[in-house]
Parts: sequence; structure tokens; C-alpha cells
Amino acid sequence: MDTSLNYNYKVVKLFTIATVVWGVVGMLVGVFIAAQLAWPALNFDIAWLSYGRLRPLHTNAVIFAFGGCALFATSYFVVQRTCQVRLFSDALAAFTFWGWQLVIVAAAVSLPLGYTSGKEYAELEWPIDILITLVWVSYALVFFGTIVKRKVAHIYVANWFFGAFILAVALLHVVNSAAIPVTGMKSYSAYAGVQDAMIQWWYGHNAVGFFLTAGFLGMMYYFIPKQADKPVFSYRLSIVHFWALIFTYMWAGPHHLHYTALPDWTQSLGMVFSLILLAPSWGGMINGIMTLSGAWNKLRNDPILKFLIVSLSFYGMSTFEGPMMSIKTVNALSHYTDWTVGHVHAGALGWVGFITMGAVYYLLPRLSGKQQMWSTRLIEVHFWVATVGIVLYIAAMWIAGVMQGLMWRAVNADGTLTYTFVESVKATYPYYVIRFTGGLLYLGGMILMAYNTFMTVRDGKAVVARIPALEPSHA
Ligand code: HEM
Ligand code: HEM
Repeated sequence: MDTSLNYNYKVVKLFTIATVVWGVVGMLVGVFIAAQLAWPALNFDIAWLSYGRLRPLHTNAVIFAFGGCALFATSYFVVQRTCQVRLFSDALAAFTFWGWQLVIVAAAVSLPLGYTSGKEYAELEWPIDILITLVWVSYALVFFGTIVKRKVAHIYVANWFFGAFILAVALLHVVNSAAIPVTGMKSYSAYAGVQDAMIQWWYGHNAVGFFLTAGFLGMMYYFIPKQADKPVFSYRLSIVHFWALIFTYMWAGPHHLHYTALPDWTQSLGMVFSLILLAPSWGGMINGIMTLSGAWNKLRNDPILKFLIVSLSFYGMSTFEGPMMSIKTVNALSHYTDWTVGHVHAGALGWVGFITMGAVYYLLPRLSGKQQMWSTRLIEVHFWVATVGIVLYIAAMWIAGVMQGLMWRAVNADGTLTYTFVESVKATYPYYVIRFTGGLLYLGGMILMAYNTFMTVRDGKAVVARIPALEPSHA
């Protein structure tokens, strides 16, 4: 008997569809702010359309709405499949869905209105922070409750990553959001000065490490073996790189604060841990890519596998680039430039975006009682359009970033600056136009995905009938 009928796929389907919807919205805002950087008049002199308000809207929408919904969907799916039990509580799971959507809508309203705590990736004001905490505690209860009542003895490695992500994000959010409210929508951080900065970037870097990495590695460990129909390359490597990754990430935050008032030894410590981080990151990448060993031919005809495997290449690339940028002398050049933005989007578009798209394409037909997505051809087109988009985006930002860094530090023989700041802005203009074009392509791919999603779920059933009972082998 197919046990899948006893699983809660409703909440998985809701989160999966929300991922696609918020992906389109978040990336649309991304393209709009990219256009504003090239053509600033696009703020139309309207306060809530200004760059400073829309930028955090973009980051919150893509990270927490698009990425967050994808993490909820996949973790709820994977924990049920690999533990072979239904979610711990349907009511709490439904609460996490509606609660999270409320958080997203509250962000979409409050950020353009100018309410912000001023902390990057933690801009939302205190009432919304409390709602996030409630949703997150419920999420932890549903996830770990399901693990506790599992029917299989072992805990599959994907769940280790999801579990670490849930626990770490709870810790980060509660500590970094500690604040003293002064009005209904205004608060001041509980920390001051350099301590505030340190806590903020302990949070910020671990948001990268746990929200944008550990959770997505959980996704990787389930969907790559499934789609490739092969067991994970090395279960031992997955355990070793798991512990190394979660231990090391926690110490790397100070690389965001090089050459600041933070004590120098703390900066060096952050740099050293960032360099060490290369090893566990590549451990994950190698484990994922090698899972395909002996089955590389599958990449030729399977666009879902293309998304999943290429995402790992971008993961490898950005986790090589990150440690390099954490070296103080390199950071002296890269910090404040578009190089950082290029690094961010190699990880965000290439790794986070692609692994999510692969997982969503895997899930959608199964959650809609269909054999496959409405159009496989459209998945293929999406893959290529998005890949060209990423390459344009990150190549433009690398060139612009290194150029800016070099222009800002160039000095004449008499010690005066060779270039004024505005000359560097002017020189960046063509690269902003190229980045906008790349972003437009990436968004175009996402719109194709939304259309394909709509056609697939249109008259689909909410219950899965065709997911094989077998889960990735742990050999
Ligand atoms: C169509 C796709 C996208 C476009 C056109 C786009 C565009 C942009 C732009 C113009 C900025 C501001 C850069 C600056 O201030 O100089 C930005 C920042 C950012 N975006 Fe995107 N973005 C896209 C997709 C994404 C996705 C999918 C994610 C995450 C999953 C993401 C995460 C971020 C982050 C974290 C920042 C802040 C970077 C920093 O502070 O250095 N973006 N994006
Ligand atoms: C070994 C892994 C990584 C290391 C050591 C690392 C290191 C760094 C460094 C040194 C910076 C520049 C800090 C600055 O000059 O202000 C940075 C920025 C950033 N990285 Fe990474 N990175 C890694 C992986 C990733 C991945 C995989 C992603 C995305 C999925 C990512 C997202 C970001 C973001 C969003 C920022 C911009 C933060 C901000 O200033 O707003 N990083 N990273």
C-alpha cells in the first residue's frame, strides 16, 4: 500500500505554490531596483518607490518569502517521506503557512512605508518579529515532532540540515532582534555601538550559513538522489561536512566588519574561519555532484537535474569566492563595491534559486497527481534563459566591482585621488544596464515557471498518488 495517502501534502502544495508566486514578486522588485540604479528617475519622486525602501523589500521577498516558502515546503515533504509518518500536527502546520504569509504581507506593506529597524536582513519592526517567533516555534514543533514520531530508526541526513537550519535561525532571530520598543512600529536595538554591529553580522553571516545554505543543502540531499535515482555519494562525507559546516559558520561573521572599530584580532579570527569554511562547503558540493557519478548521461535530457546540478556548481563557486573575499587585503578592494553584489547573486541566483527551482519542478506534478510538469520543454527554456541571465548579472558585477575598487584607491604622484567618486559611478553605468538585462532574463525564466505551474496544477488533485515509497538509499 502506498503510505503517501497518509501524509499531509496540502501544506506542502500551498508552500510550493507560494514559492513560485513570491519568486516572481521578489525578482520583479529586484529587476525594478536594478533599473533604478541605471536610471534613477524611476523612483518617480514617490517616497515608497524610493530605492532605500524597495531594496529591503527585494531582499526580504527573495530570501524569506521565496526562499522561506521553498524551505517550509521541502522540509515538510522530506521529513514525512524519510520518517514515513504524517506531520506531527496539521493545525500547527497550517498555522505556519498562514502565519508566514501574514509576515510576508506585513513586510510588503511596512517596508515601503518606511518602517525599518535598520538592520540588514532583519529590518522588520518588533510586532512582526514577534509573529515570526511564533511561526518559527510552531515550525520547530511540527518538524521535530515529526522526527520524534518517525517510523524508521535513522534520521536521514537531509533532516539534519533542515533541523540545524530551524534551530540556528530561531537562535539568530531572537538574539539579533532583541530591542526596546518605543512606539507601535519603532524600536531600538538592545545593543549599542560595535557590539550591535558584531551581533548584527553574527546574525547576517549565519543567515547566509543557515537560511541560504544549510536548509538548501537539506533540499540538495533529498532531491538530487531522487531525481538522479542514485544513492548519496558518501553518507560519511555528509555527516563530516555537516558538523564542520555548522561549527565553522558561527565564527565567520566578522569578515563583514573588516577595518572597522571591531578589535583587529576578531577580524582576523573571522577571516581564518572563513578560509576554513571552504572545506566543508566543498564537501557538500562534491557529495552532491558525485552522486551523479556513473549517470552523467541523465544530464542531457533532464532539465530538472540540470537545475539541481548546476546549482551546486554555483554553490562551489560562491563558497570559493567568499573565503577569498574574507582575506583582509582582498576585502580592502572588494568591500563597498559591486563585487560583493556579484558574489551575493552567484549564491542567490545560482545556488539558492536553481536548487529551489529543481525541487519545485520535482514536487509540483507529484503534488498535483500528474505524471510530469505541463511542459518539459518550458523547463528546458527556463534553465537556459536563467543561466544566461546569471552569467550576465555576475560577470557585470565582477567587472564593475573590481573597476570601482581600483578607481577609488588610485592616487596620483602628489597623493591626490586620480578619480572623483562620480567618475566611478559614470563608469559603472554600462554594467548596471547589463545587470538589469541579466535580471530581466532571470525574471523571464521565473515567469515561464509560474505559467508552467499554473497549467500543471490547474485541475490537479491535492493528494499524491505516484511518489514511490522508497527513499534515497543511505548506503
Ligand atoms: C531577477 C533577479 C534579481 C535581480 C535583478 C536582483 C537585483 C538586485 C539589486 C539591484 C540589488 C541591490 C544591489 C545594490 O544595492 O547595489 C540586490 C540586492 C540583493 N539581492 Fe537581488 N536580485 C535578484 C534576485 C535575487 C534572489 C533570488 C536573491 C536571494 C535568494 C537575492 C538576494 C539579494 C541580496 C541578499 C541582496 C543584498 C546584497 C548586499 O547587501 O550586498 N536577489 N538584488
Ligand atoms: C564559504 C562560504 C562563504 C564565505 C566565506 C563568504 C564570505 C563573504 C564575504 C567575505 C563577504 C563580503 C563582506 C563585506 O565585504 O562586506 C560576503 C558577502 C555576502 N555573502 Fe558570502 N560567503 C560565502 C558564501 C555565500 C553564499 C553561498 C551566499 C548566498 C547564498 C552568500 C551570501 C552573501 C551575502 C548576502 C553577502 C552580502 C552581505 C551584505 O553586506 O549585505 N555568501 N560573503
